[in-house]
Amino acid sequence: MARILTGIQATGVPHLGNILGAIKPGINLSTTGGNDAFLFIADMHSLTVIKDAAQIKENTYGVAAAWLAFGLDTKKNTFYRQSDVPEVAELMWYLNCFTPYPMLANAHSFKDKSSHLSDVNAGLFTYPVLMAADILLYDANYVPVGKDQQQHLEMTRDIAGSFNHSYGDVLVVPEGKYDERVMIVPGTDGRKMSKSYDNFLNIFLPEKQLKKQVMGIVTDATPLEDPKDPDTCNVFALYSLLAEAPDTQEMRNKYLAGGFGYGHAKSALLELILDSFKEERVKFDSWMNDKTTMDQELKIGADKARIVASETLSRVRKAAGY
Ligand code: ADP
Ligand code: TRP
Repeated sequence: MARILTGIQATGVPHLGNILGAIKPGINLSTTGGNDAFLFIADMHSLTVIKDAAQIKENTYGVAAAWLAFGLDTKKNTFYRQSDVPEVAELMWYLNCFTPYPMLANAHSFKDKSSHLSDVNAGLFTYPVLMAADILLYDANYVPVGKDQQQHLEMTRDIAGSFNHSYGDVLVVPEGKYDERVMIVPGTDGRKMSKSYDNFLNIFLPEKQLKKQVMGIVTDATPLEDPKDPDTCNVFALYSLLAEAPDTQEMRNKYLAGGFGYGHAKSALLELILDSFKEERVKFDSWMNDKTTMDQELKIGADKARIVASETLSRVRKAAGY
């Protein structure tokens, strides 16, 4: 039996990139064969950027509701808030002492921000070590994430290897699992879809607001009647991630034939999103209207998670002489 584990930060309602890159692959794996899945909301990681308590709380519900809307089975899996299992912070300390400074200084998550060092807090710098603790605390075998998290996964493997080198096989060295078809979902401006670029599609928005996001996708100025290149178009890229192969081919033909404007393509994309996620949109709203039940689900998950966490932690303490 393999244990899979993945987390999503509590930085807002998950967007299409988070859903295709993390939530759906996580749920697919959790329902495969004898897999045992740990799925959590990384609300402590969010403190590196969000200092507003009410916002972190609300974001946590938004992320939880998205997992639940996509069919996460909380009975079969372990679904919890990172902050409800404080053992992770203790493990992080031990791992900190096995993490070379240059490894952290090379992390993209830090390097991207390091031109303004005065804006970088230590939490942002040691972010990958908390992530390693998230994974190693639960003896995870596979970690499904988007390609952008590959470096963090490799750091986790290195840190675990270094700890084991000193103490024997105490920690399970995990493997990343990157969904090759999805890779990186493009945002409305063609860069990676990300909360930090404000270029995302929130598929849970009311139709009118979602339409506004879709209509905002950046396209070039090719006139309506001219043929268009599907392979350089953000609308087509998003459409083809969601559509079945024959529909993608039909859309490609329309682009190449001309007489088909970007407005038409955007309307088709909006319809496809509304149709593909019809049920999830309804479920998301109903979970967001019942936070008490969400709290109960998360509490049950945290209780299950803490059992595993305390076992790992006693192994680690013993190995390190505490
Ligand atoms: P963001 O960039 O919006 O802050 P996160 O870094 O919180 O997103 O990512 C949460 C999860 O979603 C991670 O597993 C990440 O790999 C995945 N993910 C985020 N953006 C994308 C994307 N554009 N395409 C595919 N996966 C993504
Ligand atoms: N760093 C991940 C992200 O931003 C979120 C995360 C935190 C995570 N801890 C994790 C993902 C452990 C997988 C496993 O996307």
